[in-house]
Amino acid sequence: MKKSYEQFIARQELLKKQYDEAYYEKQHKRGKLTARERILLLFDEGTFEETDAYTPPANASFGKTVKAFGDGVVAGFGKVNGRLVYAFSQDFNVLGGSLGSQHAAKIVKIQDLALKTGSPVVGLIDSGGARIQEGISSLNGYADIFKRNVLSSGVIPQISVIMGPAAGGAVYSPALTDFIFMTADTSYMFVTGPNVVKEVLNETVTTEDLGGASVHGTKSGVADFVYNDDENTILGVKQLLSYLPSNNLETAPVHQKDVSKEKTEDRLRYIVPEDPDKPYNVKEIIELIVDNGKFLEVSENHAMNIITAFARIDGHSVGIIANQPKVMAGTLDIDSSVKAARFINICNSFNIPIITLEDVPGFLPGTDQEHDGIIRHGAKLLYAYTNATVPKITIILRKAYGGAYIVMNSKGIGGDFSFAWPTAEIAVMGPDGAIAILYRKELTEAEDPAALKKELTQTYRDEVTNPYIADEKGFIDEVIDPALTRSKIITCLDALRRKTVLRIDRKQGNVPL
Ligand code: HXC
Repeated sequence: MKKSYEQFIARQELLKKQYDEAYYEKQHKRGKLTARERILLLFDEGTFEETDAYTPPANASFGKTVKAFGDGVVAGFGKVNGRLVYAFSQDFNVLGGSLGSQHAAKIVKIQDLALKTGSPVVGLIDSGGARIQEGISSLNGYADIFKRNVLSSGVIPQISVIMGPAAGGAVYSPALTDFIFMTADTSYMFVTGPNVVKEVLNETVTTEDLGGASVHGTKSGVADFVYNDDENTILGVKQLLSYLPSNNLETAPVHQKDVSKEKTEDRLRYIVPEDPDKPYNVKEIIELIVDNGKFLEVSENHAMNIITAFARIDGHSVGIIANQPKVMAGTLDIDSSVKAARFINICNSFNIPIITLEDVPGFLPGTDQEHDGIIRHGAKLLYAYTNATVPKITIILRKAYGGAYIVMNSKGIGGDFSFAWPTAEIAVMGPDGAIAILYRKELTEAEDPAALKKELTQTYRDEVTNPYIADEKGFIDEVIDPALTRSKIITCLDALRRKTVLRIDRKQGNVPL
């Protein structure tokens, strides 16, 4: 064998040695898969091509370096569900997955290739953050990554998967991406850790309570998806990718049509209760409308008064936004407005039509909401719906009151089609509020105020809130039989397939932040 070839083989052997049994064991003991196992799990079998496998860590002045190939990150590309995807996976076994200059350069190379080729990027994060001994070089590495996160935003899907620590300024790369996954119990994200919290505020808090998946999947809403272990988290990423196009110039892959569904679905007539104050679970309606009854919820356990989910209708990806009457009567508050606005922006970036299922009594009243800025945050939802140019269809299931009616994709702000079920109530406010304001004097003077209120409520429903008024005035397109909702959506999506919207050129709109 030629000497040059022997050298080549010897180098390969050295790399293999690095990934010995002890390497795997160390990470498995932490309840986690290794960086390499994770990335192999992400890609279709045999398709992963690694880049920069031999990169060593840069020399650092403050001691503590290791001789390790790859500089703590496995990077490359391959196929996910048959489509090209770029990915990197941080290796906690090498200097705690910390980001040195070479490590950053590997990630940047992946980001640049993904942007040039219009392919999604998946980052599997398991890192102690900026590599301390490399000082400014490692900080600058983050700057290089952040910049590409921003320039790729709205062009290619970017997905961050937190599978270990993500601390300090390092959390801002995931925050700039489209979706954040977290693995329960083994991952956490915070800007300042428990030690600093103790020092500065004298507060004692655990890592989990400060920034674990249980916090970010519910309270903060930072994590869009939480799964219980590494395997399921990566399966979740693959599932999400199946709903998304590779970039902003394409549409999501079309799947087989669900032929099992009948044209009419009688059960849809009986889910919304006759009593307008009774709650129901809007997920039952979603299941009956979408292909195979399957949908993937985004931020499932955060702001549960609104549902945001990807699904398919007639094989095409759609984004579903639905008020959830089961939680807080489906009112819009700060968290649900921001959650839905963010989801709309993602659908709009990636050419995914939006279906809105509306049953909203209004914005949540109260000093907390007002003082925390419901005006500004509610405006985000209004802005996102109005700004979105993808096909937009609304079905008003029951309540559509006040500003919330306008915000939830009314035709006035640019909804393409708007339909109402016979149970719909569309007005400035519900009967109670309206009667209290308009008939206060009469009610106080009435011999039988309860009887008068009952009569006024009926008149209000007959004369003001019923959907036939909105239908006749053209504010909605039709009052439909609930059983025909799916077939109506299919017909309208088809009619909107070539929708184009031209807007006045501007540097940027001033999104309410
Ligand atoms: C260099 C690091 C490191 C880092 C961990 N290691 N973090 N090396 N730079 N940032 C090394 C450790 O020295 C150790 O090496 C190995 O990784 C494993 O770390 P342990 O501490 O033993 O593991 P564990 O107990 O699980 O704790 C993990 C940890 C902790 C919570 C992540 O290591 C930690 O707090 N690290 C520092 C986190 C941090 O503050 N980073 C800076 C964030 S600010 P040996 O050789 O012993 O195995 C930031 C700025 C970004 O990132 C800038 C953007 C603008």
